[in-house]
Amino acid sequence: MTKIYAIANQKGGVGKTTSVINICAYLAGSGRRVLLVDIDPQANATSGLGYDKYQVTLSTYHLLLESAALEAVRLIQTETKLDVLPAHPNLAGAEVELVNAIGREYRLRNVLEKVNGRYDYILIDCPPSLGLLTVNALTAARDGVLIPVQCEYLALEGLTQLTQTIELVQKYLNPQLQIRGLIMTMYDSRTNLSRQVVEEVRGHFPGKVFRTIIPRNVRLSEAPSYGQPISTYAPTSPGAIAYKVLTAELVKGDGAA
Ligand SMILES: Nc1ncnc2c1ncn2[C@@H]1O[C@H](COP(=O)(O)OP(=O)(O)O)[C@@H](O)[C@H]1O
Ligand SMILES: [Mg+2]
Repeated sequence: MTKIYAIANQKGGVGKTTSVINICAYLAGSGRRVLLVDIDPQANATSGLGYDKYQVTLSTYHLLLESAALEAVRLIQTETKLDVLPAHPNLAGAEVELVNAIGREYRLRNVLEKVNGRYDYILIDCPPSLGLLTVNALTAARDGVLIPVQCEYLALEGLTQLTQTIELVQKYLNPQLQIRGLIMTMYDSRTNLSRQVVEEVRGHFPGKVFRTIIPRNVRLSEAPSYGQPISTYAPTSPGAIAYKVLTAELVKGDGAA
């Protein structure tokens, strides 16, 4: 059975894209068949894997508007053996263009149903908003949502709104939707604040926070400009090790270790 996860948080800069790219790379590196779906108009996951987002001709935009077939859109990241459904900046228009479309919340789910069974994991990188694109991802995310949370002041801010959106999607669109786990990112071991934030988030979401914590590591921020995941860019860096262990924790929890 294909596991489908959305990576969501309407806050920008919390580590969604970094988590998607690197978890996907480690999943693929351990021999799993993986599809990364980019539905953020900023297309950072697309460019972070080495594709020029302006050169992408067919993208998730075309899939959501049903104007191209999945096979035509799919790219293959040869180095990591990762399949990618890329985004293009024109995806920003999809929010508006889909407003009156029939089944507008189910567009991505319908697309992904066509590849059910062909992948072990599908991860969807969401934009920093709770609009129709994120709702499409949450509706398609059969196995839940992964929520990156930055270890910083006011980390919990916005999480209530996110969990309310998740509850609404669960009620009306995707009864299976659950919070699969919160990923604490950009942890700074030199500060008390980071530690306090982790404790606070654990208190609010008991049993839901991944044990593996992602440190702040400059290698993680450099890798995208080389079009590479951390697993090839700096495989022995603390950030790489953390994402590798996190991926193993995820897989183990999925009962597929
Ligand atoms: N653990 C980390 N250590 C250092 N920099 C990070 C880390 N995680 C993300 N970054 C950097 O922070 C910025 C925001 O991360 P990103 O994954 O793009 O967030 P989002 O997708 O939620 O907007 C990017 O420049 C990214 O390279
Ligand atoms: Mg992003």
